[in-house]
Amino acid sequence: MLSSPWRADFPALAVLETQGQTYLDSAATSQKPQALIDAFTGYYTCGTANVHRAQHQPAERATRAFEDARIKVARWLNAACPTEIVFTRGATEALNLLAYGLEHRVTPGDEIVVSALEHHANLLPWQQLAKRRDARLVVLPLDANGLIDLQAAQELIGPRTRLLAVSQLSNVLGAWQPLAELLPLARAQGALSVVDGAQGVVHGRHDMQALDCDFYVLSSHKLYGPEGVGALYGRGESLLQLKHWQFGGEMVRVADYQSADFHAAPLGFEAGTPPIGGVIGLGATLDYLSRLDAAAVTGHEQALHMKLLAGLAVRDGVRLLGAPQIALASFTVEGIHHGDLAHLLTEQGIAVRSGTHCAQPLLKTLGVEGATRVSLGLYNDGLDLERFFSALDQALEMLR
Ligand SMILES: Cc1ncc(COP(=O)(O)O)c(C=O)c1O
Repeated sequence: MLSSPWRADFPALAVLETQGQTYLDSAATSQKPQALIDAFTGYYTCGTANVHRAQHQPAERATRAFEDARIKVARWLNAACPTEIVFTRGATEALNLLAYGLEHRVTPGDEIVVSALEHHANLLPWQQLAKRRDARLVVLPLDANGLIDLQAAQELIGPRTRLLAVSQLSNVLGAWQPLAELLPLARAQGALSVVDGAQGVVHGRHDMQALDCDFYVLSSHKLYGPEGVGALYGRGESLLQLKHWQFGGEMVRVADYQSADFHAAPLGFEAGTPPIGGVIGLGATLDYLSRLDAAAVTGHEQALHMKLLAGLAVRDGVRLLGAPQIALASFTVEGIHHGDLAHLLTEQGIAVRSGTHCAQPLLKTLGVEGATRVSLGLYNDGLDLERFFSALDQALEMLR
């Protein structure tokens, strides 16, 4: 029956159930574990204080908890050192930080390489950087399975390449990208590499020292943590390449009216009051996730995913986008508009995503106007999928 042993850890699912809602939109954002809610309650009821500023006891407590969370993120990613983790307000902000922080490395005529499947968050900051610096944005094509075409990458990543920015796992196609082959191509040209881990970080553990990228970004809210928090991992020597981008309190070492001297990473890139409760909440979420049997979680996710793909495969007119490997499936149905389908699924309490999934150029490349996406979290179970398929059949019957 594919039940999830972790479902009860996420109290919102029981509430959604009473509302007749089946949540299948975790790639957009996840539900939260009780462990996070408890951490929030603990932090906000014990007295809040700003971090890295005052000497008083509440400030010391908040700073300690904040820095503990940095250690937890570093451990989760197997970073060499906690100072390689910069807290941001999400993956989008981390990518914008990089696009500004690395701007000085890009000169007119240089190339910034992305792939055809990027989320707008990992496309537009680079597109705009290319415009600001009169550089060229090079787009790596995909193969028939929705993977970045390695042969084309070998030809397109060249001596003018300054940066390579690619997703680890596409939010539309659900396929693991061949980073082990791609990243060395950038390194061989002396280019820096950026991996958008917003989706990939949710599924399995990823070792930054083995991955060998320069930068990796994630959003807490997709990883069962709170919104408004993200993290940028940067290899020690790669972080030294970044120019400061936001200015204000706490990122400065010495300030005068006409000049200032700034901290190095991570503090130098955390201007202003950070989302303290959120960061502490992310730490608590990682504690919770660390207690789970990782192999069992992956096994459950894979079994659910196979059931999802099998159910879609037997339905007439359903066309899958790419060849998803985990967690999600995006599809179109011949002769049916994705908006109409979404409307009927919504009416039946099925929470899935419909549209262009913040990846308009990709959908255009695939020749589709929009698609329906079902995405799974570790708390989903076989019953969720049965409800989805039953609603899908009813919707298709009405629309045909
Ligand atoms: C692949 C990918 N990258 C980046 C983002 C941006 O994440 P956020 O909106 O949390 O900053 C998303 C969010 O959907 C995503 O799926």
